[in-house]
Amino acid sequence: MKRTTSSKEIVLGVTGSIAAYKACEISSRLIERGHAVTAVLTESARHLVGAASFEALTGRRVITAMFEPFASPEIEHIAVAQRADLFLIAPATANILAKAARGMADDWLSTTLLATRAPILFAPAMNTNMYNHPATQENIEILKARGCAFVGPGTGNLACGTVGIGRMIDVPAILDAVEAALCETKDLVGLSVVVTAGGTREPLDPVRFLGNHSSGKMGRALALEALKRGARVTVIAGHMDVAPPEGAEVVVAQTANEMAEIALSLAQDADIFVGAAAVGDFRPEDPSEEKLKRSGKGLKLALVENPDVISQVAALKRDGQLVVGFAAETDNLMKNAKAKLKKKQLDLIVANEVNTEDSGFGADTLRARLIDTEGNVEELDLATKEEVAKRLFDRISDLLD
Ligand code: PMT
Repeated sequence: MKRTTSSKEIVLGVTGSIAAYKACEISSRLIERGHAVTAVLTESARHLVGAASFEALTGRRVITAMFEPFASPEIEHIAVAQRADLFLIAPATANILAKAARGMADDWLSTTLLATRAPILFAPAMNTNMYNHPATQENIEILKARGCAFVGPGTGNLACGTVGIGRMIDVPAILDAVEAALCETKDLVGLSVVVTAGGTREPLDPVRFLGNHSSGKMGRALALEALKRGARVTVIAGHMDVAPPEGAEVVVAQTANEMAEIALSLAQDADIFVGAAAVGDFRPEDPSEEKLKRSGKGLKLALVENPDVISQVAALKRDGQLVVGFAAETDNLMKNAKAKLKKKQLDLIVANEVNTEDSGFGADTLRARLIDTEGNVEELDLATKEEVAKRLFDRISDLLD
């Protein structure tokens, strides 16, 4: 893939955990995103995974030892340390955490970690007892206090046959953490952001519901963007086809009533509330406790209106708090969106078209416009949901000034 201006130099340190094979996929995904990757394998990692795989994936010589016979100046450890935008250590064993915390420099990777001033992100992977050991926990605290970032570990089946914490977190979560670590805009540090995402589901009976096609992709992109910029993020998650980003707190809400209750409680401490969820406006008046049966005469459903979650949140808005909504429209986009902005007392609304395959529910892209209370309109054309999230938080950031 062609490198872009957002391409970064990433040093991928691979240490001796059974999860080392997943570092190949990490390299490949980082390259796909346009980054340049230099892989560094410790001696233990080389017993588990081959340098040739990384050379093929990254197109670069893999660094395996301090005194290699054909070492060239550009892979000399100080040169690599200086040109790196990020060090990602994945998987990171207890050993590399200990060496990094205590400043040991006895191989290429640990030496270069001391020499670099680039951000460092660790994705730990080890046995549960090793992870929980006070020595490892203390090392992690030391590294965090020094500004190093961590992603994972997760919980699950471990190579040693036990189940517990210590698995290297999934690759998508590591990639999100890489983007967060590389993000230079940190304008939301110290702020709390609540995002509603996905679609609500209103039960008809124990096995059926009234729902919508929201995938949660827009809400996920918003939560990730806010995390990248340094916010504390809570996702109020309706039904989502995608996982919320690692690092966000997640509170699940199935129905509009549940979402309203959770939103009203969490909004009290939020600086920014963004409603990207597709909240059902109606629910069955009297859901059946048993599975509804066919009667041969059809079925008439009586529906009642749900609470308007974002209106309730906006009605209790504190000074300085921002409440931002989305308007999902199939017609009269601007007129309807402007009416919602006013009626719901929002500070900003994203008017999005939801009647084409490439824009709206389930799509990766959106045709959207940002409208503020002064009537200013920013047109986004067809943009990825990640780009929409970025542009929206740029505007939110302006409003916070
Ligand atoms: O999840 P994806 O597949 O990525 O799709 C993204 C999306 C199309 C769902 C998203 O971009 C979007 O438009 N979300 C808002 C959907 C919606 O409910 O629009 P609305 O125009 O009906 O509502 C306007 C605003 O009021 C929204 O902020 C909505 O969250 C809020 N609302 C609506 C109804 C309700 N009962 N309570 C609410 O809070």
